[in-house]
Amino acid sequence: MSERLPAEFAAALAATDARRRHIGAKVHYFSETSSTNDVAGRYADAGAAEGTVVIASAQTSGRGRLGRTWYSPPGAGLYLSIVLRDRSAAPFLTLAGGVAVVEGVRAATGLPLEIKWPNDVVTRSTNGPAPRRKIAGVLAEASSTAEGLQHVILGIGINLSPAAYPPDVANRASSIEAELGRAVDAGPVLAEVLAALSVELEPLARGESSPLLTRWRALAPSASGTSVECETPGGRLNGVAAGIDESGALLVRVGSRTERIISGEVVWKQAK
Ligand code: BTN
Repeated sequence: MSERLPAEFAAALAATDARRRHIGAKVHYFSETSSTNDVAGRYADAGAAEGTVVIASAQTSGRGRLGRTWYSPPGAGLYLSIVLRDRSAAPFLTLAGGVAVVEGVRAATGLPLEIKWPNDVVTRSTNGPAPRRKIAGVLAEASSTAEGLQHVILGIGINLSPAAYPPDVANRASSIEAELGRAVDAGPVLAEVLAALSVELEPLARGESSPLLTRWRALAPSASGTSVECETPGGRLNGVAAGIDESGALLVRVGSRTERIISGEVVWKQAK
């Protein structure tokens, strides 16, 4: 059973009601759960409406892409999942999640961030030697039956404070508070990310993906012109990123040919 939504979340959500439309109209809060993606999946299987949000203050089995663990200690991060059902939006939800996090964090805190394909939200390039550090990640998980797609659970993890990530990833991760050098309220970050997601979903519901793709490209400068190394089913490949195509696949120039990367691990060898 979900618990009473903490006042800081309730107040921030109330202040963004009109802009969020149905995203977060229903919110289930847990002080601790296994994985908000699993809980949201169960709500979705039981008929939860599009836009239903599950949020937890801690996860015991938070997961990331490629089978990784998403470290989710109490109160240090935002751990949330959104039930989405619109089939036309489904192929673009990972990209929409990344854009929503960048837009929402900026609106709530002023911190500018960037996207690293496909779904990492990282600190902005300073043109100096400091590497970009990961602040947030997006994990979209689809559920289908013989009748087709039933729902997608869009999971978002955002590091609010340095305690949100383990010491062994400290040189690759950061948090909103570490970047800003001050404390931030979780409520406005949650509410603004959901409001930004609502904005990105509107054109997708009409079958229009170009507003999202344009916004994503503007927020992901490293997706063009950066040297990358990709693990693909056909083996390792070295090339230069050449942006995303209309389906969100990363294009990589390898000599005279262009490869489409649809998933997997991409190592960015030279920050742009
Ligand atoms: C990644 O970058 O690897 C994606 C991380 C996604 C983490 C979030 S936290 C909320 C939701 N529940 C999970 O178990 N995972 C996602």
